[in-house]
This record gives sequence, C-alpha cells and structure tokens, in this order.
Amino acid sequence: MKPADILSWRSAAQRHRVAAGLAAVEERLQRTVSALPGRLGEAAGSTLAAGGKRLRPLLVLLSARHTRPPVLRAASAVELVHMATLVHDDVLDQADLRRGLPTVARSYGDQMAVSTGNFLLAQAFAELSDTGDAGAVADLSEVAWGLSEGERLQAADAFRLTVTVDDYLQRCRLKTADLFAVACRLGARLSGLGDENVAALGAFGDSLGLSFQILDDILDLTGDEAVTGKRRGTDLRDGTVTLPIVLALEARPEIGPRLVTCRDNETCLEGVVEDVLACGSIEGARTIALDFMNKARALLGACPGGFERELLDKLAGSMVDRYN
Ligand code: IPE
Ligand code: IPE
Ligand code: MG
Ligand code: MG
Repeated sequence: MKPADILSWRSAAQRHRVAAGLAAVEERLQRTVSALPGRLGEAAGSTLAAGGKRLRPLLVLLSARHTRPPVLRAASAVELVHMATLVHDDVLDQADLRRGLPTVARSYGDQMAVSTGNFLLAQAFAELSDTGDAGAVADLSEVAWGLSEGERLQAADAFRLTVTVDDYLQRCRLKTADLFAVACRLGARLSGLGDENVAALGAFGDSLGLSFQILDDILDLTGDEAVTGKRRGTDLRDGTVTLPIVLALEARPEIGPRLVTCRDNETCLEGVVEDVLACGSIEGARTIALDFMNKARALLGACPGGFERELLDKLAGSMVDRYN
C-alpha cells in the first residue's frame, strides 16, 4: 500500500486536510519543474510524473499542526531534495529503472541527470528560503550535504567484505534517515511547535528512516520489479554491502569472494542471491528493521498527541508491509 493510503483510517474532515495538503504540494512541485525550459524541464518533469510515494512530504504534513504556506513549502522542498538525490543516485548506481520507468540517466544521459538533480536541489532551497526561516534552511542544507557524504561512503565501501552493521547504519543515517528526521523537524518547526516537540518528532523520523532503508535494501534482493519499480539486485551488481549481505557474510563467509567474482555474471549473481536467501539473513535484517520501527512508534509517545500522531503510528506500521 502507498503511504497516503493511511488517510483512509481517518474521518472525512481530517482526511481532507492532509489530502488537500498533499495535493497542494503536488501542485507546487509541478509548478517548480515546469519553470525549467527545454530538455532539462522535460527530464525533471519525467521524474515527477513517474510518481513516487511522497512519503517525505507526508511526514512534513503529519508532523505539522496546520497546512499553511510555510509547511507546504517545507514539504515541497523535502521532496525536491529527495528527487534530486534519486536522480543523482541513479547515475552513481548505474540504475536503469526508477518508479517503474527508465531513469533520467538512462533516458537523457548522465550529464543531463547531474544537471537535473542540481536544478531540483537549487529549487528546493529557493522554496524553503521563501519561508524566511534561516534555521530551517540551515537544517535542510546540512542534511543535503550528508546525503552526498552517505553516497561517497557507500562508493568507497563497494565490495568491501568487512563492512560492519555500524558502518552500514551510519550510511543509512546519512543517506536516508536524516532526511526523514528533517522532514519531521521542519513540519513541527514551521507550524510553530516548540523545540522539545521538534526534537521528539526528529527522533521518530530517524528511527523510521533507518527501518525504511533496511526494508528497501531487503527489497533489492526479494522485491518484485513490477511493484518496486526498480531493478532487482542493483545493490549486488554495484557491490553495495547492505545489511542482508553483512549478515549473510557472518553466517556464510564463503559467499564473500563470489560477490566479487560474480559481479558481471547474472546467472552467477542469481546463485549468490539464492544462497543469501537460504542463510536466514533476510529474516535477521527484517528483525532489525522491525526493532527500529517499534522504536519509532515508542518515540511517538513523546510527540504531541492528536490524529496526526495516530497517522504517523499507522504509517510506521504500514511500512513493514511495504508493497504488500
Ligand atoms: C527511495 O525512496 C530511496 C530510499 C531511501 C530507499 P522511496 O522508496 O521513498 O522513493 P519514491 O519517492 O517512492 O520513488
Ligand atoms: C537511497 O539509496 C538513498 C539515496 C540517497 C538515494 P539506494 O541506492 O538504496 O536507493 P534506491 O534503492 O536506488 O532507491
Ligand atoms: Mg540506488
Ligand atoms: Mg536500494
């Protein structure tokens, strides 16, 4: 199910407020990408039109007490940063499928993909700076820098068979959880909640983001491409040592050398996937993802109450059944 489907749990009036917020964000995103002329505009438009779950804007809206313009700007800015990193990530990962369609890199080439990502990133900060809240801009810019640092660390760790769970989690924080956390913080901050609530919602976003990235990394090995919209096994081909692989290497060290020798051989890689699936590491990774998800839900206890908190809880719960 899609994150926005959690709205079906609420009364019509409450549902309407969040759904109207999401629709307004979509409109802002549309306006932003259509501002760019030529092929660059076409490339940015194609990634927006391909969809996506809009999970991060939803986190902004559900961490906020209203959906006035500063909150909508933050929701739009966070999705623009996310889209920019996906467009750049697909260059780095040499991925050819995203949101069920060819990636910008595949359709328009790496150079256009880099420019498209840069444009989206610039627009994100233009959008957020219009709130007049310099602290909010500083918070998002630090996270955006961390995203590229996470990608750098991941590239440096390619095919390194000694990656630890802690190394992996540090990368997940930089690449994913910090953006979830800042989405929650910005929603809270820009709707006038106090520092304590901002920090509590940020802590929720951090744990949720770690859980989300682990589940995504499991899906790289087990997911149905028709549902995930991404090519299965991309991490393996790139030598990205994700949690299921770290755990598989602990259980079956002999898998290690085959990660390297099979890298360009699809049949050989299928054999590696079968061995990883057979050694119990998927279940191990799922347990760790569930632990982070449960921690996120427990942290909601320190967040302001109301239907938004109830929906954040449902959202966290629904994440485990992602794509089910
Ligand atoms: C993909 O994020 C990148 C990760 C952090 C795993 P999403 O799965 O939220 O991507 P879209 O926006 O729905 O395409
Ligand atoms: C996700 O990295 C985080 C980003 C900074 C884009 P992944 O490489 O795991 O994301 P997918 O699987 O391509 O969506
Ligand atoms: Mg990728
Ligand atoms: Mg992935």
